[in-house]
Amino acid sequence: MSGHGPKTSMVSSKSSALTGTAVIPGDKSISHRSLLFGGVARGETRIKGLLEGEDVINSAKATRALGALVEKIGDEWVVKGTGNGLLLEPDAPIDFGNSGTGCRLFMGLVGTYDFPVTFLGDASLSKRPMGRIIDPLKLFGTQVIDQADGCKLPITTKGPRFAAPVEYRVPMPSAQVKSAVLLAGLNAPGITTVIEPVMTRDHTEKMLTGFGAELEVETDKDGVRYIRLQGQGKLTGCNIQVPCDPSSAAFPIVAALIVPGSDVLLENILMNPTRTGLINTLLEMGADIEISNSRESGGETIADLRVRSSELKGVTVPGERSASMIDEYPVLAVAASFAKGETLMQDVGELRVKESDRLDAVARGLEMNGVEVSEGPDWMKVSGRPDGKGLGGGRAVQTHLDHRIAMSFLVMGMASEKPVTVDDTLPIATSFPEFIGLMGELGAHFD
Ligand code: S3P
Repeated sequence: MSGHGPKTSMVSSKSSALTGTAVIPGDKSISHRSLLFGGVARGETRIKGLLEGEDVINSAKATRALGALVEKIGDEWVVKGTGNGLLLEPDAPIDFGNSGTGCRLFMGLVGTYDFPVTFLGDASLSKRPMGRIIDPLKLFGTQVIDQADGCKLPITTKGPRFAAPVEYRVPMPSAQVKSAVLLAGLNAPGITTVIEPVMTRDHTEKMLTGFGAELEVETDKDGVRYIRLQGQGKLTGCNIQVPCDPSSAAFPIVAALIVPGSDVLLENILMNPTRTGLINTLLEMGADIEISNSRESGGETIADLRVRSSELKGVTVPGERSASMIDEYPVLAVAASFAKGETLMQDVGELRVKESDRLDAVARGLEMNGVEVSEGPDWMKVSGRPDGKGLGGGRAVQTHLDHRIAMSFLVMGMASEKPVTVDDTLPIATSFPEFIGLMGELGAHFD
């Protein structure tokens, strides 16, 4: 997204019933990690089902820049990694485009290497806080050679000659911070411990174990997790089948629920409990989502989902659930706009530092399109109109380079009385390049 061209606005109009099978692309979190871990592991990693969105392609480029070979052979991505501790100094700054996950995970990974790396991003990523990664890296001995005001990109780091392992309590619920610290620990001697008071997505722990890392997780009686990683161990390439992304599935799921008469099937969706908060919330709201064929694939649970349009009711989404659906609040707010009564979302302050300030972007977009919405520093409340009467017809919703804002409001237009316009659909390519075509095949009208 660094070379973001002219904005492409789009209008989404009321759809007739959505029907068919939605083929959802690979999970973004697992795709980034497959390339990164493959790049630092010794030998070959073969990845099937990799998400080929811009964010992940930037991670493929970063993996190459650090000395690994990455190529697509047929329908597989093949990574020949360097081996743990053996990454090479990149010969140019690395541009992560729009991707916070790519940038922060790689910042952790190279944070304990004794060479400088410069991190770049697009206008959205350059506004996002990087102090949350730099602070723990400094404990390992990492230096910041250059940074923009307020610890923002562009940032140049340089690792210490001899890193020390750390014990770090993650101060906010963030899988990116947890992962960055563990990845820095890969190249430090001894045991690096991450203390995680609120459990976030656990793909790093699971996948590092799959690559052969010595990692153990202990959970105390209060649910606090102690993740201990033995540094400087051997990582070995492996085969990965990336499951389908529940955060991308969220858009056709909500669309099918709010467009009357819809009946949509989504197959092979990742059902890791750290990612299913939206599905649980929608079920509480009265959604007709049939979960079947639940099975294990590559250490993760996947299942098929059949979604039929439903009369939704408003609910309170408790703060404890927010980590398991952190990327799904924009589209939940759209579902809530068509539910009977109020939906209150608690403890969602992290939404202010995503690809955009999502609480603000969602509230302004809903407001412009006739929804009663209020927001505070870390909460949002939406009052719904089950039939969508009077909704839509606002000025173009500002997406602020945020893919999930663009997709959420295109979904809204599918069930609103009047069309919904979004100002820029280009960011959708960061995570779900197939979105427009796929929704069109189900029956959506986008112009
Ligand atoms: C991700 C973690 C989350 C999430 C992001 C992907 C990951 O970010 O919002 O889309 O793959 O680790 P935070 O760690 O900032 O919560």
